[in-house]
Amino acid sequence: MGRSYLITGGAGFIGSNFVRMVLDREPDATVTNLDLLTYAGVKATVDELDVSERHAFVRGDIRDSELVDSLMGGKDVVVNFAAESHVDRSIEGPAVFLETNVVGTGVLIDAARRHGVDRYVQVSTDEVYGSIAEGFAGEDAPLLPSSPYSASKAGADLLVESYRVTFDYPAIVTRCTNNYGPYQFPEKMIPLFVTNLQDGKKVPLYGDGLNERDWLYVEDHCSAIHLLVDAGTPGEIYNIGANAQVANLDLTNMLLELTGRDDSYIDYVADRPGHDRRYAVDSSKIRALGWQPEHSIAERLATTVDWYRSRSDWWQPLKEARA
Ligand SMILES: NC(=O)c1ccc[n+]([C@@H]2O[C@H](COP(=O)([O-])OP(=O)(O)OC[C@H]3O[C@@H](n4cnc5c(N)ncnc54)[C@H](O)[C@@H]3O)[C@@H](O)[C@H]2O)c1
Repeated sequence: MGRSYLITGGAGFIGSNFVRMVLDREPDATVTNLDLLTYAGVKATVDELDVSERHAFVRGDIRDSELVDSLMGGKDVVVNFAAESHVDRSIEGPAVFLETNVVGTGVLIDAARRHGVDRYVQVSTDEVYGSIAEGFAGEDAPLLPSSPYSASKAGADLLVESYRVTFDYPAIVTRCTNNYGPYQFPEKMIPLFVTNLQDGKKVPLYGDGLNERDWLYVEDHCSAIHLLVDAGTPGEIYNIGANAQVANLDLTNMLLELTGRDDSYIDYVADRPGHDRRYAVDSSKIRALGWQPEHSIAERLATTVDWYRSRSDWWQPLKEARA
């Protein structure tokens, strides 16, 4: 019999890509996909999976302890992607970030512990380390979050750590760099810029555009998590990154070229408060388990642009709803 997964946030960007990967790679696995379908959760993203008897979608909240309890029985693996994930929104309204990202994680891990779930993976972010002026943050680097978003993710990481120490329930925490690829909500930099440029609109670039991010293709992130489900050591933290820092301005120029626009389409806007200058993680620990990125930004940015070009049916309604 295959593994029984509870995957949360599986109608979001990374979660939906991960659900597909599990169903593809593990022919006997079953997935319960728990997602609240907030503004960022898109049921259409996983509609095609409804035909599979191995995928059960449940619309619900990770903060709902009764619901979570009712879904946890018999599960072998929990992977928690559910979160409020947009930094700008966390500056405008932090409360829901604390509720979902911290309280929601607390509800999930507690239920997983009580039900004796073998593997719990908490999907966190490199943003918990804050800005890394030079070098690369290891898993033992201090947590110095700059935004309410990253502080809420760091809070969840610490809660997970407390379950290891207090309850001897060792979960895995992953801290990945910025992702890009299909099904990313069009408020995030790459899909926002691509879809604006396709529509002949300018792109809002923060500050001087020299903030650096380490972009990883979403499939590579999903492969890393899938490897850790099999081979990760419970209780350990794993950084995941491409080691390919790109300044936002350089990324913007790549997108301008791919969409046939010039730099008159750049709208330099006031910097985001608390904007981290540079993210960089040392991912040698997961690389020692045999993982490495299979895709480069040079190759995958173009296919991502093509995906958004061909899937305006997916992103256009989401952008219109926000307007
Ligand atoms: N996007 C990135 O670059 C990146 C990088 C590193 C880590 N992460 C982490 O990966 C995870 C997924 O990120 P994403 O970019 O796919 O986010 P996303 O915003 O696209 O998806 C989040 C999903 O969670 C769901 N959700 C929100 N609140 C919920 C709740 N209370 N109960 C149940 N479901 C709820 C939403 O409906 C949505 O489908 C997050 O935990 C994020 O912190 C993201």
